[in-house]
Amino acid sequence: MKHHTSPSSFLRRSRVSPYLFTFFVFIIFLAVLYSEDLSCLFKLPSLQPGKDPEQQKVGRPASATEHARLPFAVGETEGGCDVFSGKWVRDESNRPLYEEWECPYIQPQLTCQEHGRPEKEYQHWRWQPHGCSLQSFNATFMLEKLRGKRMMFVGDSLNRGQFVSMVCLLHRIIPDHAKSMETFDSLTVFRAEEYNATIEFYWAPFLLESNSDNAVIHRIADRIVRKGSINKHGQYWKGVDILVFNTYLWWMTGLKMKILYSTVPIATQMQRMQGSFNDDVNDIMEVSTEDAYRMTMKSMLRWVQKNMDLPKTRVFFTSMSPTHGKSKEWGGDAEGNCYNETTPINDPTYWGSGSRKSIMQVIGEVFDKSKVPITFLNITQLSEYRKDAHTSIYKKQWSPLTPEQLANPVSYADCVHWCMPGLQDTWNELLYNKLFYP
Ligand SMILES: *[C@@H]1O[C@H](CO)[C@@H](O)[C@H](O)[C@H]1NC(C)=O
Ligand SMILES: *[C@@H]1O[C@H](CO)[C@@H](O)[C@H](O)[C@H]1NC(C)=O
Ligand SMILES: *[C@@H]1O[C@H](CO)[C@@H](O)[C@H](O)[C@H]1NC(C)=O
Ligand SMILES: *[C@@H]1O[C@H](CO)[C@@H](O)[C@H](O)[C@H]1NC(C)=O
Repeated sequence: MKHHTSPSSFLRRSRVSPYLFTFFVFIIFLAVLYSEDLSCLFKLPSLQPGKDPEQQKVGRPASATEHARLPFAVGETEGGCDVFSGKWVRDESNRPLYEEWECPYIQPQLTCQEHGRPEKEYQHWRWQPHGCSLQSFNATFMLEKLRGKRMMFVGDSLNRGQFVSMVCLLHRIIPDHAKSMETFDSLTVFRAEEYNATIEFYWAPFLLESNSDNAVIHRIADRIVRKGSINKHGQYWKGVDILVFNTYLWWMTGLKMKILYSTVPIATQMQRMQGSFNDDVNDIMEVSTEDAYRMTMKSMLRWVQKNMDLPKTRVFFTSMSPTHGKSKEWGGDAEGNCYNETTPINDPTYWGSGSRKSIMQVIGEVFDKSKVPITFLNITQLSEYRKDAHTSIYKKQWSPLTPEQLANPVSYADCVHWCMPGLQDTWNELLYNKLFYP
C-alpha cells in the first residue's frame, strides 16, 4: 500500500472536506490492518491445485490421520474419494428421506406437493459418488454428537433451505414436547431440549453488513455492502460449534457491486442518500462482482481465524446453488425455464451459464491460499444437473399474481429455490459425510 502523501499536505492541496479526510484516514487504517491480517493468513500455501480431488478440504493436508483428528470426525471416506463427483441414480425405496407432510418446519415457498406439483419424481434420486458410497444419514447418531452443541447456518434463503432440511432430517426422533422452533429477527433457532442442542439459521445474504439485511423486507434491487463489516453479523455467530456459510445469489445483480467504504452504518448511509444524492455518497464505489466476492471471502476467513476455537469446532462453506431460468442452456425451448421439468440433466459435463465459473474460480483461489481449515461443500456441479428439483410454480407466492402472470406460468416459475424433500437433503448428506467421515 503506497499512501505516502502526508495527510495535511493532501488536505491543503485538494481542499477536501473534513468528512472525506476522515474517510481517507480510515481507509489507510484499514489498509494497515488488512495487510497484517493477510500476511498471516496467506503465507502457507497448502494445496497443489489439481492433485487430489479430496483437496476440497481447503487448507488441510488430506492425509487420513489428519482427517481423523478433525473435531467430530469418527472415521474417514474411503481412499480420499471425492464425494462431490458422481451421478444421480433412481432410488424408489430409500428416497425421499422423509415426507413433505411429516415435517412441519418447511416454509410454504418450498412445499411443492401442497402447492399442486402433480408428480414426485424429483424426490426419488440419490447421489452416488463415483469413487465410494456415502455413509447413510443417521439422525440418532448426529443428535448424540450435537449434544450440548450449537450448529448454525449463516447466509441466504438457499442456506435457510439447507437449515430446514437438516431440521427435517433430525426432528422425527424428538418427541413434540422436547423440541421448538423460534425466530428472533435474523436468527431462527430449532431446539432439541433433551439434547441441549440447537440448529440455527442466521440471515446474512452477503455475510457482510448490507442494505438487504432485514430478515423479512430485503427485496432491494440496488444492493450495497459495507467493506470490513462482518462483525456486524459475526457477533451473533460466536460460540457456535459447527458453522455452515453460504453466499452467492445476492451478488448476482448483473451489475457491478456497490461497496460502501465507511464506518457509517448502512442504514444511516441510506437515509443520507434519500435526503440528497451528493457528496456524502462519494464513499460508495462500484467494483466487479468477483472482486467484491473475493473481499467477502477473505473477511469470512479472517473472522473464522479470529473467532472460532478451531481445534474444537468445524466450519463449512457451501458453494453456489445453481439456477435454471433458461432451458436453452440445456438444449430446451428458447422461451422455457425449469417449469415442467421432471428429469435431471444427463450430460455429465453440463454447467449452466452465468457467473458461476468466475465465482468458483475466486473461491478456489481464496481457499488455496488460506490455511484456515474450512471444509468446502462443492454442491454446484451436482445441483446443476437438477433442473427438475426447483419449486417452479408450486409454492406460495410473495404477493398476489397479476392476471398476466397467471396466464403464463413460465414467467413466474421460481427456478432458484428447491422443493423439499429433495435436493437439499443431499447437500446435508454430504455435510454429514464431511463432518463425521472427512
Ligand atoms: C444410528 O446411530 C445410533 C447411535 O450411534 C446407533 O445405535 C444405530 O445403530 C445407528 N443406526 C444405524 C441404522 O446405523
Ligand atoms: C447446553 O449447551 C450449551 C452450549 O450450547 C452449554 O453452554 C451449556 O453448558 C449446556 N448445558 C447443559 C446443562 O449441559
Ligand atoms: C407442460 O407439460 C405438459 C404435459 O407434458 C404440456 O401439455 C404443456 O404444454 C407443458 N407446458 C409448457 C409451458 O411447456
Ligand atoms: C467444484 O467442483 C467443480 C466440478 O467438479 C470443479 O470444476 C471446481 O473446480 C470445484 N471447485 C473448487 C473450488 O474446488
